[in-house]
Amino acid sequence: MTANILPTPTGLTITPRDRRFDRGALKQRLWHGGNVPATAIYNALSTTFPAGEAFFVESVRAFRDGAPPQLASDIKAFTTQEAIHSREHDAFNRRASDAGYDLGKLEAQVDKRLAITRDKPKIVSLAATMGLEHFTAILAHELLSDPRHLEGADPEAAALWRWHAVEEIEHKAVAYDTWLYATRHWSRWKRWKVKAKVMIYITRNFVVDRTAGALELMRQDGVTGFRAWSSLLWHLWVRPGMFRKIAGAWLKFFLPGFHPWNEDDRELLRNYEASAEVRSAPAPRKKVRNAA
Ligand SMILES: [Fe+2]
Ligand SMILES: [Fe+2]
Repeated sequence: MTANILPTPTGLTITPRDRRFDRGALKQRLWHGGNVPATAIYNALSTTFPAGEAFFVESVRAFRDGAPPQLASDIKAFTTQEAIHSREHDAFNRRASDAGYDLGKLEAQVDKRLAITRDKPKIVSLAATMGLEHFTAILAHELLSDPRHLEGADPEAAALWRWHAVEEIEHKAVAYDTWLYATRHWSRWKRWKVKAKVMIYITRNFVVDRTAGALELMRQDGVTGFRAWSSLLWHLWVRPGMFRKIAGAWLKFFLPGFHPWNEDDRELLRNYEASAEVRSAPAPRKKVRNAA
């Protein structure tokens, strides 16, 4: 297998942008426009990243040996990007903790889920990573496509989320291509069966855990019961409706012949690079050391 027989665009380069975002106190605890469910949703998601992305790195790296050169170099860039994301979200989570949120319960739940997967064969961790990377890619696509998702948010926090989204799109096929390589001797049916089973499992956990996590953070803001449920579900499923909007893209994962780059959304990357936000951003530190 070489990269050019895969649908990954041959001209695609995965570039770790070593950005460093604000470490100071959040100007506002409800940094997402004073909106309780919106702040809770993004905080809950951010809580998963430091441990979650370290898990992605370890799962993909386990299959790097012997990979074709293009894939090996993509894995290296992928692990560098994810390591920097972990670092920046760890810093962001600290800012949320300093603003008074207790993230302990959410972090414990992430650790519990990861421990269950780590106990299984390494190929299961790779399959889980591939599924979760599809999630991050379609969330990222939607986030960058519709500015309403970050409307009213603190500009520095919004910049962190957009930066992360861009790199998730850029490396969206790395775990998938690693999986294709690692399972190259499997039948198509076996590959599909395992992939589908793992995706259903992680989707259930993703929806249940992120909802519970957001409700817990909303409780810490004094919003509970019907008010909490209704405003959270409204935000997720109706307006701006992130979960509703990614449902179609989520389903495509199960189609025969699926590959993340069947959806060529490089235009979102080009728009980002041309944006005022990037042109006015402080230059990344010169040397990006690869994490792999
Ligand atoms: Fe990431
Ligand atoms: Fe990723």
